[in-house]
Amino acid sequence: MNLAQETAVKPTQGSPLLAQDHIEPDTRHGVILYVEDVSVSFDGFKALNDLNLYINDGELRCLIGANGAGKTTLMDVITGKTRPDTGRVSFGQQVDLLQLNESEIANAGIGRKFQKPTVFEQLSVFENLELSLAGDKGIWTSLFHKLSGEQKDRIAEILFTIGLTEQRHLLAGSLSHGQKQWLEIGMLLAAEPRLLLVDEPVAGMTAQETERTAELLTSLAGKHSVVVVEHDMAFVRSIARKVTVLHQGTVLAEGSMNEIQSNPDVIQVYLGEESHGEETGKE
Ligand SMILES: Nc1ncnc2c1ncn2[C@@H]1O[C@H](COP(=O)(O)OP(=O)(O)OP(=O)(O)O)[C@@H](O)[C@H]1O
Ligand SMILES: [Mg+2]
Repeated sequence: MNLAQETAVKPTQGSPLLAQDHIEPDTRHGVILYVEDVSVSFDGFKALNDLNLYINDGELRCLIGANGAGKTTLMDVITGKTRPDTGRVSFGQQVDLLQLNESEIANAGIGRKFQKPTVFEQLSVFENLELSLAGDKGIWTSLFHKLSGEQKDRIAEILFTIGLTEQRHLLAGSLSHGQKQWLEIGMLLAAEPRLLLVDEPVAGMTAQETERTAELLTSLAGKHSVVVVEHDMAFVRSIARKVTVLHQGTVLAEGSMNEIQSNPDVIQVYLGEESHGEETGKE
């Protein structure tokens, strides 16, 4: 292969790597993500302040906290969008995420779902998944080459997981808001991420869609590690095993939902914010 061809197949930003390109994180200690002493300042304001967080391999963790607590900033740091001023962020024991750029981090096996779905509206559900499965091979290869049996099986498996088997031939643009969110989760799954970061997945969903999303995220845990940021406390209660509460850029409390809700620090912070209006994370 000449250099030009090599350049052409270089993975583009955020595209999934092929299985053989995966960096295997060392999770012998049971931890897939280490965030240690991380601080991020924006014009002197500390959005993250000496934050420590450990995510276990295969766990489903909920991250809660009032507006501005630093939840999205934390995801930005993990995915390489924002560089911390200090601290250590490691994927498994050895992969130093601060040495990798955004696309390398995505390729290493960390998928991120943003709040707004970014599916291709003019393509069918199936084609959207086909594209994400092709990853860096690009749109032409993906849409004009026959899928292997293995690829078809993988798409069928993802369709089943996200509950869109019946909708596979519909245009993504015709799906409901909730269905688009599931499709996007499916597109992330095509890259077989070890760690999935999901920011406010149920915002704007109907009650039924919210319930289905709870089932979906719960079903992903085990095979994947999942970190979910959400303000909807009923939803968090329905999926959470362990909850981390962020407050002013640092971890205020960590534990089961019941432990969190009876934690005096959490109660004080949340009651203090009650008078400031919406979205303080109360039930
Ligand atoms: N690029 C930036 N420049 C300046 N300030 C920023 C930037 N990104 C975030 N901040 C500030 O950092 C703080 C943390 O923001 P962040 O978006 O992480 O909060 P959050 O917990 O995700 O809140 P929400 O629940 O509203 O999504 C906020 O005060 C925010 O205004
Ligand atoms: Mg946010």
